Amino acid sequence: MNWPALITVLLALNLGDLIFGPSLCNASPKFQKNACRIRRDVADCRHLKLEEIPPDLPGNITGLDVSHNRLGALSSVSLAPYPGLVRLDLGFNNLKKLEESLCQTLPLLRTLNVQHNQVHQLMEKDFSHCLNLTELNLAGNRLKLHGESFAALQSVTLLDLSNNDLKTAKLGIQPQLSSLETLILSSNAISTIELNDFNFLTNSSSLRVLNLSYQKTHITFKSGCLKPIAGIHELVMDGNKLSTALTSKLCTELSGTAIRNISLRYTGLVTLAKTTFKGLVKTQLISLDLSHNGMTKIDNGSFQWLPVLEVLSLEQNNLKRLTSNTFKGLGNLTRLNLKNALLKTSSNPIIDDFSFQPLRALEILIMQYTAFRDISTHTFAGLISLRQLHLGSAKCIALKRITNQTFVSLAASPLQTLNLSDTKISSLDPGAFYSLGNLTILRLGFNSISQTLTGKEFQGLGKLQEIYLSNNNQKITLSPTSFAYVPTLITLLMGKVLIGSLDLEPSPFKPLSNLSILDLSNNNIAKISRGIFDGLENLKVLKLQHNNLAQAWTSFNPRGPVMFLKGLCNLVALEMDSNGLDEIPLEALRGLPNLQELSLSGNVLKHFKDSVFDHLSSLRVLRLQKNEITSVRKEVFGAVLANLSQLVMNTNPFDCTCDSILWFATWLNRTNASVPGLRDEYICNTPLSYYNHSVLEFDPLSCQDMTPFQALYVLTTTAVLILMVTSFLVRFHGWRIQFYWNVLINRTLGFSDTNSREGRAFEYDAYVVHAADDTNWVERSLLPLEDNQGYSFYLQERDAVPGNAHLDSIAENMKKSRKIILVVTEKLLNDPFCRHFTAHQARHQVIEDSRDAVVLVFLEDVHDYRLFRHLRLRRDMLRQRCVVSWPVQRERVPAFHQSLCIALGTTSRVQ
Ligand SMILES: *[C@@H]1O[C@H](CO)[C@@H](O)[C@H](O)[C@H]1NC(C)=O
Ligand SMILES: *[C@@H]1O[C@H](CO)[C@@H](O)[C@H](O)[C@H]1NC(C)=O
Ligand SMILES: *[C@@H]1O[C@H](CO)[C@@H](O)[C@H](O)[C@H]1NC(C)=O
Ligand SMILES: *[C@@H]1O[C@H](CO)[C@@H](O)[C@H](O)[C@H]1NC(C)=O
Ligand SMILES: *[C@@H]1O[C@H](CO)[C@@H](O)[C@H](O)[C@H]1NC(C)=O
Ligand SMILES: *[C@@H]1O[C@H](CO)[C@@H](O)[C@H](O)[C@H]1NC(C)=O
Ligand SMILES: *[C@@H]1O[C@H](CO)[C@@H](O)[C@H](O)[C@H]1NC(C)=O
Ligand SMILES: *[C@@H]1O[C@H](CO)[C@@H](O)[C@H](O)[C@H]1NC(C)=O
Repeated sequence: MNWPALITVLLALNLGDLIFGPSLCNASPKFQKNACRIRRDVADCRHLKLEEIPPDLPGNITGLDVSHNRLGALSSVSLAPYPGLVRLDLGFNNLKKLEESLCQTLPLLRTLNVQHNQVHQLMEKDFSHCLNLTELNLAGNRLKLHGESFAALQSVTLLDLSNNDLKTAKLGIQPQLSSLETLILSSNAISTIELNDFNFLTNSSSLRVLNLSYQKTHITFKSGCLKPIAGIHELVMDGNKLSTALTSKLCTELSGTAIRNISLRYTGLVTLAKTTFKGLVKTQLISLDLSHNGMTKIDNGSFQWLPVLEVLSLEQNNLKRLTSNTFKGLGNLTRLNLKNALLKTSSNPIIDDFSFQPLRALEILIMQYTAFRDISTHTFAGLISLRQLHLGSAKCIALKRITNQTFVSLAASPLQTLNLSDTKISSLDPGAFYSLGNLTILRLGFNSISQTLTGKEFQGLGKLQEIYLSNNNQKITLSPTSFAYVPTLITLLMGKVLIGSLDLEPSPFKPLSNLSILDLSNNNIAKISRGIFDGLENLKVLKLQHNNLAQAWTSFNPRGPVMFLKGLCNLVALEMDSNGLDEIPLEALRGLPNLQELSLSGNVLKHFKDSVFDHLSSLRVLRLQKNEITSVRKEVFGAVLANLSQLVMNTNPFDCTCDSILWFATWLNRTNASVPGLRDEYICNTPLSYYNHSVLEFDPLSCQDMTPFQALYVLTTTAVLILMVTSFLVRFHGWRIQFYWNVLINRTLGFSDTNSREGRAFEYDAYVVHAADDTNWVERSLLPLEDNQGYSFYLQERDAVPGNAHLDSIAENMKKSRKIILVVTEKLLNDPFCRHFTAHQARHQVIEDSRDAVVLVFLEDVHDYRLFRHLRLRRDMLRQRCVVSWPVQRERVPAFHQSLCIALGTTSRVQ
């Protein structure tokens, strides 16, 4: 090969790989990725239209269900990947045959189901390796057996060959199936059981159940045919036409066997003769099912052969009469089912007095839907072991009104449960259940009882724990003594029972200190008294839904909201759905520390008071769906939602704005609690932009844009506040601020200061300003100081140099004076000249020089306000010692002079 050719070949190979891909990926399209569900080590491949066993399941599976597919053949190769299979279900496919090697490929196989396939021919070798198989179902295959097909199945305990058109029960000749416990041969065409048919089961000592139900032909039994299987415990003959005689024959064949249970349902057995069951006398029959036979007559003593029978069902028959001998001999019967057993036709069936007398061991008597004419004082006599009597939906006129005679025949029974539901009771007389002292459960629901319960109805029921009164068409009224005789009550169910109000004092429930469950739902209760649940300290479940309790909780209630839940400290579940509630009083849910479930759905709740749920520290489930809730705020729900394991709040018109929903949307996003319908049922109603969107779609980022606005808001608020405070300050202390401000400015800018003043030389100690009318006072009281103390004052009228310009001279001389004395009187204030110039100048002095540059001498009391108005001065502007008052009393004048000297001498005097 020359080089170019070799390169071409190599290229071609590589190209091939490139074009077709690596050969590993070239898998058959038949084995597309299977859709089997793998749970633990079991593969569920049902209903997948499979034509092959999927090859890509985990190799370690122990169970494989490929039923309801299109498997046509089963090669052991296809099962080879799963050698650990213990269960294999091949039912409802098109398999034609079973591979001999199946059990070799699957050595651990124990359960094999091949029902409803097309396996017609079954060869001896087919199961030859199936030694470990314990259950084999070949039902529905139209099997033809060849030879000893099952000979190898020494471990099989259950063999189902029903629905195969088998003509005989003879599955082989050799003894085989030595482990067999249940053989199902129903729905075949076996017409006769021949003497030796069951010989192949002679070694099957564990055979217990033989199911021969629904043969397509009339089945008959040859004498001795059941001898090989005398160990069976249960024979099922349902759906086979049985005459009285044939039944009798069957029972004879069963004589001496170990039979315990016989099922003879749907056999058309119309009458039982006295001797029908005679053959069973030598058996230990425990259970006999004669239901669904349309049986009309049972001869007296028919059951006398069954002394150990414990369970007898006569359900769904057409019996006309029970007599005192019908059940004769059933002394060990514990359960009798007469449901629908007596049928009303033209006349009512009759239950004779003492009919149940023989049933001394009977514990459960079921008479639901049974029609009978009357209950006499002896009807139930002799049932000395009866614990349960079920009369629900029974048709008996005597039950319309329960008198103190109705159940008197049960006086000797230790009855614990009496079910009288739906029996058209309209009234309960006093002492109705007087004879039933051991009763614990009384069911009276779905009746038409309409009366006031005085309590006497339940007289004598000293052990009663449960009354079911629900669904009595709301015709019952309670009274304070309604439950006085049943203080042991634990459960009281009165849904749809009461005529709408519960404002009774004292409460009818007061005696029920053991009560744990109370149902008062669907009663339209509007009025409820505050103390209605007083004393129910053991109440755990309270159902109040579908009432009208909005009235009780409204704040518009003239007496205030009715806190009827107080004291229920052990309450675990409270249901108050559909009560029209539009508010919950703040205190309403306090004092319920153990409440775990609260249901408030279907109300019209919209606004909640902050922390209304905060005290429910044990709450796990909260239901608030179908209310009017728009906003879910942290202040209301923060505490309660933190501990919740389930929240149901769907179907509310949520307002998806930052204020209303941001917190909730975030909570929903993060919570571990279960929130059913979260994806689809938490829908925004407003605003328009979120309308019909899920709350989960709410964008938390849209709320962050609010931050600058919030800052702005805070800023403006602060500014406004500061402004307000300032204006208040200015209004009331403005002068002070202004004054000190001026002082500060002057001092800092160094216009002048006290220190610099110290060094200055003054001509006068003080410039005296006074009103003309006060000249007298000045001369008498001030000028003498010049002589006595050596002060020198400047007085305008005395010291002014004539000719000097008036105003300039004033300013000039004030500057030359160390202090300015203002002699304050009303006159001075009214003197326009003083006001406008002198005082102004003085003020300047105060601000520019120092606060003790001016001395105010008050000759009369002048209000600060007037002082300021006229002179722009206030007492507080000056140092305290610079304000002196002329005393009224003469003797104080020296003290005045003293003060004045101090005021003038504050700083060093002019030398
Ligand atoms: C089966 O095998 C798979 C891996 O193929 C493994 O994850 C699984 O744990 C195994 N199951 C058992 C029950 O051994
Ligand atoms: C029966 O099962 C056991 C394990 O339980 C196994 O060792 C044995 O080989 C199986 N027998 C046959 C014949 O497959
Ligand atoms: C039947 O059982 C007997 C003993 O119980 C036994 O000896 C005999 O081998 C068994 N026959 C078959 C075919 O298994
Ligand atoms: C008898 O076999 C049929 C068919 O398998 C089944 O439907 C029925 O429940 C069985 N009866 C009893 C009492 O086991
Ligand atoms: C109840 O059955 C036992 C046998 O289990 C029997 O001895 C006894 O007599 C029976 N009682 C009645 C009242 O028939
Ligand atoms: C039963 O009720 C009637 C009145 O209806 C009364 O005369 C009689 O004394 C009551 N009997 C008992 C045992 O209470
Ligand atoms: C009620 O029960 C008590 C003890 O539980 C029992 O002594 C009494 O006999 C029973 N009453 C009747 C009527 O059986
Ligand atoms: C929910 O969580 C996702 C991812 O953690 C986040 O993108 C989304 O904004 C959250 N939504 C809310 C309403 O908090």
